Amino acid sequence: MREKELRDLLADMSLEEKIGQLIQLSGEFFQSKDISYGPIQKLGISQKAIDLTGSVLNVTGARVTKELQDRQMAKQPHNIPVLLMADVIYGFKTIFPIPLGLGATWNPELIQEAFRTAGNEAAASGNHVSFAPMVDVTHDPRWGRTLESPGEDAYLNSQMSRAMVTGFQEDLADKAGQVSCVKHFAAYGGVEAGLEYNSADMSLSNLFQNYMPPYQAAVDAGCGMVMTSLSTLNGVPGTADKWLLQDVLKKQWGFDGLLISDYASVYELTKHGFAADDRDAAQKAMDAGLDIDMKSPVYANELQGLVEDGSLSVDKIDAACWRVLELKNKLGLFEDPYFGTSEEKEKLVNLTAAKRKLTRKVADEALVLLQNKNDLLPLTGQEKIALIGPYADEKSLIGMWAVHGDPADCVTIKEALEEEIGERLSYAKGTEVSLDKEKLRGLGFIPAEEIEQMVPDEQTEKKQQVEAIKIAQESDVIVYAVGENSYEAGEAGSKTDLHLPENQVALLNDLATLGKKIVLINVSGRPLVLSNVTEQCDAIIQAWFPGTEGGHAIADVLLGKISPSGRLSMTFPYTEGQEPLYYAHLSTGRPRQGSQHVGRFVSRYIDAPAEPLYPFGYGLSYGKVNYRDLTVKQSHIQSTESLQVNVTLTNASDWQQKETVQVYFHDDVASVVQPVKRLVAFKKVRLAPQSEQKVTFELPAEKFSFYDNQGKQVLEPGTFQLFVGANSRDVQKVEFEVVK
Ligand code: GLC
Repeated sequence: MREKELRDLLADMSLEEKIGQLIQLSGEFFQSKDISYGPIQKLGISQKAIDLTGSVLNVTGARVTKELQDRQMAKQPHNIPVLLMADVIYGFKTIFPIPLGLGATWNPELIQEAFRTAGNEAAASGNHVSFAPMVDVTHDPRWGRTLESPGEDAYLNSQMSRAMVTGFQEDLADKAGQVSCVKHFAAYGGVEAGLEYNSADMSLSNLFQNYMPPYQAAVDAGCGMVMTSLSTLNGVPGTADKWLLQDVLKKQWGFDGLLISDYASVYELTKHGFAADDRDAAQKAMDAGLDIDMKSPVYANELQGLVEDGSLSVDKIDAACWRVLELKNKLGLFEDPYFGTSEEKEKLVNLTAAKRKLTRKVADEALVLLQNKNDLLPLTGQEKIALIGPYADEKSLIGMWAVHGDPADCVTIKEALEEEIGERLSYAKGTEVSLDKEKLRGLGFIPAEEIEQMVPDEQTEKKQQVEAIKIAQESDVIVYAVGENSYEAGEAGSKTDLHLPENQVALLNDLATLGKKIVLINVSGRPLVLSNVTEQCDAIIQAWFPGTEGGHAIADVLLGKISPSGRLSMTFPYTEGQEPLYYAHLSTGRPRQGSQHVGRFVSRYIDAPAEPLYPFGYGLSYGKVNYRDLTVKQSHIQSTESLQVNVTLTNASDWQQKETVQVYFHDDVASVVQPVKRLVAFKKVRLAPQSEQKVTFELPAEKFSFYDNQGKQVLEPGTFQLFVGANSRDVQKVEFEVVK
């Protein structure tokens, strides 16, 4: 409708109706029978509040959403449609690799296409807003939500953030896209010790340089919504942080969309000790400019009273309600509350062959080859392969945040290999993802009977181990598919032990005594500690949770249909004790190389290496690409100029390569000391067999600026080091200067 009509609508709404637009509830409140006493009592809100609710969480599907829309609009005095929002984090029905794997593609254009596809599917099923991308920078894989993030680096996450937001929103005008809700604002990934929901505390320099850029990239790409974090930043909960939401997000960055809390995070303001009670929480969240209260009773029960006793201006309610109505109007919901969804459209759009092909292509580029002794891989396809392990024929390859996906749609590794090598493949599970019933019970949400099914009795376990050893003895190569329990990854999945489960390592050790070649496939939602399995394995592939076509992608790499091009978007530690461990660290006054001290008195551990097992940006391909002739066109640049960087790549192999050229820099001297390296640019280039290519980067001087402890961006003249290479460790270096 036209703006004037929308203004008239707002003016005609009662205070109760306006408050209703600021409430979001989950699906159980809107069963078709409308019998949701349990949740109502538990949340402590009225049926009236439910009837007037303005948005609904995680209810999707053409039929269901149309029925819900009809029911709820009939209860609205002005027939205002509800806004439907869902967790579409890395796919809707066609599931892509987890975002940590999407980051490992270093291919923003491809990821934009993936998110456009996810937006098409979610919209076809009636959804309007997707709670993604999650772009929280994370330096600590003890945190389960590393699964959801593109990784540890502000620049890489920013490129992915922009691509994901753009992809989601590309087809919005045709009701075939999603409003992108970037999250979690801000710096949730900085939770101390990787402990879920813990506090994040950092300097403004660290915040603006290492955590904020991906959110700003989402705002610059036009994301329609921002979700606040469950955690505190420097002692203030993101959900009610007026400085963060008003001064930074709205005034500095110019964000003019909707601000939604995370799940119950308004209610949790009292738990944090930031609000005295729900009334105080409502006041503080509204003062900070939070528009929608997700799944908490606070706005529903407290806003009316605050307005009526004069503590809260109705103007704030009107402003928040206006933003909600504006978004509904922008989506055309007043004219078409169904957003064009239909069961026919759903069937036509979801999980098509083309979309399967796309997620396979993304997974092909997300897999990271970590080890390949004596170029064992790719296999020729003529070998007799013994496929063993809990993930060998496992459908659950989509990870815990693939909320609307179905593991049954997945292609397993076994299915994919059978298509290619048929009878030369033998299979035995060998062992389970986990045999630790206590640990599984401790996760707190797996039904007891399911745990009994997940963990066989000792006799069965022994029998399947024997079976695995037997087929291994009769094979040429063992492909051992292991990894992390999907239940242990994602939200509330913090853990202190990042090793593979003992039973998986034990069977590997037995297999290693057979003198066969071993390829380990690691399925996980985070970097695991693999330092205790590198010896036993000839090759190691990091598969992440690779998505609906994960099995095909793994077979593509194993059998050489493609040369793996994935590069780690997060550091793999040698041991958990090193965490948080990331490449963009400071030098310290006693670095291990170049300090005036040696031996004990340098920055090191006395009981473990300080270096990672595999560094940020690392990954192998079949055949090698060589870098030479790294030059900068100018030895020095003014602050208004750009530096031109040139490097020549040679692909001396017969493989079609996709090589990610990574460019890092170091500011030698700065008033706030700078990391030894910081990613500033990258290009994923195609290299035909036996070819070479000159690659050029134009880097504006402002890219070499840093943030000071007032949160101000500064560029100081002086010498800089520029590094170019295939990862953050193996680089060539050239110096340049920024002059006044
Ligand atoms: C969860 C998550 C958030 C998600 C929301 C809705 O607690 O923190 O990422 O979008 O609730 O499911």
